[in-house]
Amino acid sequence: MRIYQVVLLAVTGIVIAAIAAFILYGNGTGGKGVASIGGPFSLTDHKGQPKTDKDFRGRYMLIYFGYTYCPDVCPTALQSMTQAMGQLAPETQKKITPVFITIDPERDTAKQLNAYVENFHPSMVGLTGTKEQITKTARVYRVYFGRAQDGQEESTDYLMDHSSIVFLMNPDGEYVTHFTHATSPEKMAERLAKVVGR
Ligand code: NI
Repeated sequence: MRIYQVVLLAVTGIVIAAIAAFILYGNGTGGKGVASIGGPFSLTDHKGQPKTDKDFRGRYMLIYFGYTYCPDVCPTALQSMTQAMGQLAPETQKKITPVFITIDPERDTAKQLNAYVENFHPSMVGLTGTKEQITKTARVYRVYFGRAQDGQEESTDYLMDHSSIVFLMNPDGEYVTHFTHATSPEKMAERLAKVVGR
């Protein structure tokens, strides 16, 4: 296991614990804590069009933060999302938009995302933006990311550390539940079916 994987696991653990705490305490205070995951964003999609959180209202969002150069974790998560969606009826799939938000906007341009999302669900939307826009978006989702410290600061061939959570948001843009890249497509599909319908 490489150092960045250890860091990633640790970070993922912390984020899951934080989310669990929000859910637990959120329920105790009238659900206010739940609303603290997710929020407004203003980004650019893989077609180069501006997109805000409001453009996704009326449909569920299945959101994952990662980067296209990720060697293993991101493709696994996006594949699981794609397979889980594939297990739902076409009518149900239309109610959910899978969204991939890059945490590596320097390399993940709209063009790069356009080529990448083609590997996954046909309705998947890739989102990028300025470093500031991405940082803001990650913050409202409580997603951690940072460049892996590999001693090659000048290299363009670098890895990113990031939390690995798949968020399910409802048609009003509110947090419903989350999964990880380790959640099986079957489990994810089962939960989606329960929330969204068969
Ligand atoms: Ni990744």
